[in-house]
Order: sequence, then structure tokens, then C-alpha cells
Amino acid sequence: MKIEGVAALVTGANRGLGAAIAQALLDAGATVYGGARDPATVTNHRLIPVRLDVTNDDDITNAVRTCADVSIVVNNAGILRQSASLADGALEAARAEMETNYFGSLRIARAFAPILRDNGGGALVNVLSVLSFISMPQGATYSASKSASWSLTNALRIELRRQGTLVVAVHAGFIDTDMAAGVTGEKVSPESVAKQIVTAVASDAEEVLADATSEMVKAALPNDLSALYPTLQAQWDTEMAEQS
Ligand SMILES: NC(=O)c1ccc[n+]([C@@H]2O[C@H](COP(=O)([O-])OP(=O)(O)OC[C@H]3O[C@@H](n4cnc5c(N)ncnc54)[C@H](OP(=O)(O)O)[C@@H]3O)[C@@H](O)[C@H]2O)c1
Repeated sequence: MKIEGVAALVTGANRGLGAAIAQALLDAGATVYGGARDPATVTNHRLIPVRLDVTNDDDITNAVRTCADVSIVVNNAGILRQSASLADGALEAARAEMETNYFGSLRIARAFAPILRDNGGGALVNVLSVLSFISMPQGATYSASKSASWSLTNALRIELRRQGTLVVAVHAGFIDTDMAAGVTGEKVSPESVAKQIVTAVASDAEEVLADATSEMVKAALPNDLSALYPTLQAQWDTEMAEQS
């Protein structure tokens, strides 16, 4: 799709990857709403700050009103609690991560799907992780939330195809942001991931494997299920056609 001249919303746009995605969209000629829990933390003056905690229904209702012209929505906001499944506090960590990473993305998708439809289809980008494919006990509860979000993304792609919305899944290993500040290993830059996202949206690509780690882990999955999705798509299209 053409990015120049369209409006976009990025959640968690005040720092880290979200700030880089917002800048990349600006560079591509979009008008960009910068969603943030505290709009005062959006320091890029080219962004239009929008109060948007993705766990808050009132914020989402208001953002839908403010950002009614968007044709690109990026579900970027996320949290990492670094909890193993059996660690103290794991249930609380899992609930918090699910609430932001999974339910937050689901809420935003549900709220903005009609807007994307009315604005010609557009694109919904979900920032996932290599941990959607594989689990690490160091971040077991986070991995579960990103796996759930990957599942959500795959269903949304089918549900939204009829209205012409491109759904992009973004996977990366470590990205050089606050979230991975404690990691000493290799990290991809947020600017590189952001650029790849913009290229994917511009070229109608449904998946971004942003670094060698995510490429390697995806390639190691026992089977690539993508061949099964056309059948699921056909079943869904038939059911929808019967209902309309
Ligand atoms: N860094 C990595 O290694 C890595 C790897 C793969 C995927 N990811 C994913 O990339 C995305 C961006 O992460 P990052 O690396 O940029 O992390 P980050 O530096 O910790 O930034 C997280 C962003 O999400 C926002 N956020 C958190 N909870 C929110 C909520 N309830 N509502 C709205 N915004 C909220 C934060 O806002 P505040 O400033 O208000 O906290 C901040 O803007 C996340 O989905 C993350 O899971 C990161």
C-alpha cells in the first residue's frame, strides 16, 4: 500500500521500537498518531500525541474518535516481566503480560478494524517476537503472551482479508531498547526493525522476520503451517458469504 499521505497510529510510540516505527512512518510520508500511556512522554514533535493505554477501554474509545482517519495501525505496546512459569509471582506476571501483549492487541484490533475498513482496508501490524515460536523459561510467561498474539494475528489475517486489510506479523530476537537493556548478546536496532515494517506494509508482505535469530527459529519449526491456511481461508470465506 501507499504510505505517503496516509494516517497511522502506533501504540507505545513514546520510546523504544514504537518511537522508531513512528519515525519510519513519518519518513515515509505518513501522518502519525503517537499512542502513549502518558502523552507528555511523546517527545517527537512531528507526532500527534494520543493518550492510549491499551489496557484501558476509555482510552481506546477516545483514540478511535481522535484517529478516525487512520489506515495503518501498529500494535507495538508491550511489557516483559522476565518470569519463569514456576517462579514466585508468575501468575501475576502472566496476567499482566497477557493483558497488555495479547488482550491489548485484541482490543486495538477490534476497535480499529471498522476504521481500517472504512478507510479502504489499510494495514494492521502486530509486533510479536521470536518468542511467539519458541519458549524460554527466563521469559516463560512473556513467551506465552507472544504466542497467543501470534495466534491472534493469524486469525485476524483471515477475518480481515475480506475488507482488504493487510495483517503483518513482526518477529524479532533481541531489539536494542530498554526492554532488552540487560542483554549483552546481539541485538537488532529498532531503526532496522522499523524500516523492515514499513517496507512490509508498502509491499503487502504478511511477515517480517527482522533478524537472523527469528529467521533461524522460524525455519526450525517442525512444519511450516502456511500451506494449511488457504483451506481455513476458504472455509471462513464460505461461512461469511452464507451469512451475508
Ligand atoms: N526489545 C526486545 O528485545 C524485543 C524483542 C522482540 C519483540 N519486542 C516487542 O517490541 C515491542 C516494543 O518493545 P520495546 O523493545 O520498544 O520495549 P520498551 O522499550 O520497554 O517499550 C515498551 C513500550 O510499550 C509501552 N507500553 C507498555 N505497556 C503499555 C500499555 N498498557 N499501553 C500503552 N503502551 C504501553 C511503553 O510505554 P511506557 O513508556 O508508558 O512504559 C513503551 O512505549 C513490544 O511489543 C515487545 O514485546 C521487543
